[in-house]
Amino acid sequence: MTITANWSYPTAVKFGAGRIKELADHCKALGIKKPLLVTDRGLAPMAITQQALDILEAGGLGRAIFADVDPNPNDRNLEAGVKAFRDGGHDGVVAFGGGSGLDLGKCVAFMAGQTRPVWDFEDIGDWWTRASVEGIAPIVAVPTTAGTGSEVGRASVITNSASHVKKVIFHPKFLPGVTICDPELTVGMPKVITAGTGMDAFAHCLEAYSSPFYHPMSAGIALEGMRLVKEYLPRAYKDGADLEARANMMSAAAMGAVAFQKGLGAIHSLSHPVGAIYNTHHGMTNAVVMPPVLRFNRSAIEEKIGRAAAYLGIAGGFDGFYDYVLRLREELGVPDKLSALGVGTDRIDEMAEMAIVDPTAGGNPVELTLDAAESSSQNAFDGSRR
Ligand SMILES: NC(=O)c1ccc[n+]([C@@H]2O[C@H](COP(=O)([O-])OP(=O)(O)OC[C@H]3O[C@@H](n4cnc5c(N)ncnc54)[C@H](O)[C@@H]3O)[C@@H](O)[C@H]2O)c1
Ligand SMILES: [Fe+2]
Repeated sequence: MTITANWSYPTAVKFGAGRIKELADHCKALGIKKPLLVTDRGLAPMAITQQALDILEAGGLGRAIFADVDPNPNDRNLEAGVKAFRDGGHDGVVAFGGGSGLDLGKCVAFMAGQTRPVWDFEDIGDWWTRASVEGIAPIVAVPTTAGTGSEVGRASVITNSASHVKKVIFHPKFLPGVTICDPELTVGMPKVITAGTGMDAFAHCLEAYSSPFYHPMSAGIALEGMRLVKEYLPRAYKDGADLEARANMMSAAAMGAVAFQKGLGAIHSLSHPVGAIYNTHHGMTNAVVMPPVLRFNRSAIEEKIGRAAAYLGIAGGFDGFYDYVLRLREELGVPDKLSALGVGTDRIDEMAEMAIVDPTAGGNPVELTLDAAESSSQNAFDGSRR
């Protein structure tokens, strides 16, 4: 089955296999004449990236690339990217990659026109109104993983390289003008990235659905996003060339990001410090901490998760859902314990302190106290299931 669609929700989305070939046209439609393609170091030499540059060049837009981007990108990457953008006289960004390339690309386009430091635009209250809007360069986003949903999001996650804290930088104009969702670009993802990014999409849907805030639209999107993950993530994992599965995972990723306007929770609060300190993969870290957080939240979400389980065709209410999550993780080769990701126990106290002030903590259905953050992290180290 071939899936092709043009959506205008939450931005213009050009969805379908092979649609990367429209890249130059969409740049031009946004008025971009000299784009800078921003991606991460790993992707830079890959065929999909070179092909995107070929398409830009053939369209008369040059083939400029900035790829000095780490996983969990940081302020140093950002500074270098903004310099490359300004020095090269660019007028728009093609944000290309997984969450790392997308987030840094979006932030380069935003910071190109600002004079204040990036931390002044953290997602706090109305800080975003401090920005000078005229200077924000247009963005075309091209996801190559199916997880973060950053391609349809209004924020970037940037790690402060001095404090090792992940900060969410927000402005409505971070939302790309056009997003090209081409599932063929995700075919070459290694299994471990397919699993990790897919579990990030699942975590977004699950946490958005579970958050206590009133946002029925997001709750509905989150539920269907979880269903797509349940049906298609194991397929995409088993056969990376299964384009129907890859396409539906791209949708699930975008849906997770749209849904988490409703809030995220302790899965992300615990995972952010781990990623910031140990540079672990974000989605894989979420997957490891998911069961202890589900157990911790049980009293507040039992009924809701029961409804989700029924929709997903899982028998047994909350317990059935919990067992399903454990089985899914096993099927995807997700380790039981944080230690398997190279994380030591020596900094649990520090990570718990970072977790309770993480901006996602406020969306957790049960208040994330220091004790709770410590014991849930400890459970993620022990790999205890009950
Ligand atoms: N903006 C948001 O709303 C948001 C939400 C969740 C996570 N994030 C951020 O996104 C980042 C994680 O993004 P991610 O999970 O997509 O991983 P990633 O972008 O870090 O990529 C992981 C690895 O996969 C490689 N890769 C990517 N696409 C590939 C492909 N098609 N074929 C082969 N290799 C490929 C990359 O080179 C990299 O080595 C973190 O920094 C996280 O904080 C942002
Ligand atoms: Fe996430």
